[in-house]
Amino acid sequence: MTRLTACPNAESAAERAARDVVRQLEAVRGQGRTPHIALTGGDTPQRTYELLAREPEHWRDVEVWFGDERCVPPDHEQSNYRMAALALLNPAGIAAERVHRMEGELGPDEGAQRYAQLLARRVDADPVPVLDLIVLGIGPDGHVASLFPGAPTLRAGDDAICLPVHESPKPPPQRITLSLAVLRAARRCLLLATGASKADAIGAMLAEPTPSVPASLLVRERLTVIVDDAAAPTEDPR
Ligand code: 6PG
Repeated sequence: MTRLTACPNAESAAERAARDVVRQLEAVRGQGRTPHIALTGGDTPQRTYELLAREPEHWRDVEVWFGDERCVPPDHEQSNYRMAALALLNPAGIAAERVHRMEGELGPDEGAQRYAQLLARRVDADPVPVLDLIVLGIGPDGHVASLFPGAPTLRAGDDAICLPVHESPKPPPQRITLSLAVLRAARRCLLLATGASKADAIGAMLAEPTPSVPASLLVRERLTVIVDDAAAPTEDPR
């Protein structure tokens, strides 16, 4: 069963998401493992990252990965890494050697290949690398990471780790994304959504699984969804 929490507004949703991330990191440490977490891009998670940066002690050992990246330089205003670095990585003082950004500047194909190799080297696989927590946003069309409705990336094999995107409907067109197989292998996914523009996508995500709504293909038993009231589905479709 998906855990769905609706908060009164975007700020309280960000506060709840930050608490959930910290709880997940502590749970992984409690199992004697180093936490491996993938961050999402977009606007929604930024406030959550800013709140997390206030407690740097929680990031002392965390290995930070990314769910997707735009094929731009790391200092470009559209870079997901840049957003996370400004909101969390730099203010929390997370050591550079524990931050694994996708090299979007290499382009989709080489960037995806290099990231897949890095993940396979550094994260235990079963059969794909198993991350402890993947933070996700969702598009109004139900995309997660850079897995878009009906895209060929959704049909990549069960051993696919990281994929190139050449024609993203959400600009910029060239991206790198974790595969659906990696999202589905994660021990937990935390999906954040705020604003009325996401309500239909959240409802569709919790309805019948379909490639036309990539978020609906996530493993529901390992999915936590935190929304504000504006993004909450009109009826609980779980
Ligand atoms: C990206 C993101 C993408 C994002 C959603 C929601 O690179 O654009 O990873 O998947 O999470 O599009 O974006 P917003 O949070 O900006 O609405």
